[in-house]
Amino acid sequence: MPEEITKIASTEREARSFIRAAREGRKRIGLVPTMGALHEGHLSLVRAARRTCESVAVTIFVNPAQFGQTEDLSKYPRTIDEDLEALRDLGVDLIFLPSQDELYPNGFSTYVLPPAVADPFEGQFRPEHFRGVATIVLKLLNLLPADVAFFGQKDFQQFQVIRQMVKDLNVPVEIQACPIVREPDGLAMSSRNRYLTPDERERAVALSDALAEAKRCFDDGATSSSTLAEYMSEILRKAKITKIDYAEVADANTLQRIDQIDRPAVALIAAYVGRTRLIDNTLLAAE
Ligand code: PAF
Repeated sequence: MPEEITKIASTEREARSFIRAAREGRKRIGLVPTMGALHEGHLSLVRAARRTCESVAVTIFVNPAQFGQTEDLSKYPRTIDEDLEALRDLGVDLIFLPSQDELYPNGFSTYVLPPAVADPFEGQFRPEHFRGVATIVLKLLNLLPADVAFFGQKDFQQFQVIRQMVKDLNVPVEIQACPIVREPDGLAMSSRNRYLTPDERERAVALSDALAEAKRCFDDGATSSSTLAEYMSEILRKAKITKIDYAEVADANTLQRIDQIDRPAVALIAAYVGRTRLIDNTLLAAE
């Protein structure tokens, strides 16, 4: 089989010429925005894009605007050679690797005010985060106006923020969520998992265990959010995970906290395993 040729681009001009060519070829364009340090979760987005789109673009850009001042921007993993290798046989047409100056040149000063769904949970603990995410995603959608953009459900609130932004600002793109990809023991794949020591890695599985327990209790008839929250916190504490930003249940669409699970809901956890902050979630489907 001939090797797939992937174009690597880093400028706005190249991105636009890629889109122009795809449009001329009447190809359906899929966009997979990432910050690199690719793992199976990212690759599942690329495969989903490949299944439904004739032309697939992957962006790799560690977006400074979504990191708080005390967060891990400088040590965020940058593994470009491995990333290019991981994408090699997936039939990607364009890898967009812009520099910081390309996307945030001197004088840049316009940001997206994210929708209300950004306010709770991550919004409380990472106040500027979704402003940065919404801004970069809108910029990428303007540079590479795709038909469909793919996002992982592990960042559930991010997905809801982007979906609402696209709706509110009439951005002509379909936003598709793809399921969380997990390690065999249940830990959700994340670029930040590589920060974990072997002991932390073992304990980190408590996040997915806690969510699985919440789901089990809900499926068995429990409908009180605080009961499920208590079960989740107990499992985290047993694994010596004590710095818990949240382990709660919310309305799956608005992300507002609910007392009773009487509508589509999501259980969400953000907690520190050692110094690494991990997030995970599971949908609790209510009738
Ligand atoms: O989910 C991510 O990797 C990032 O938040 C995104 C959507 C690529 C924006 O930088």
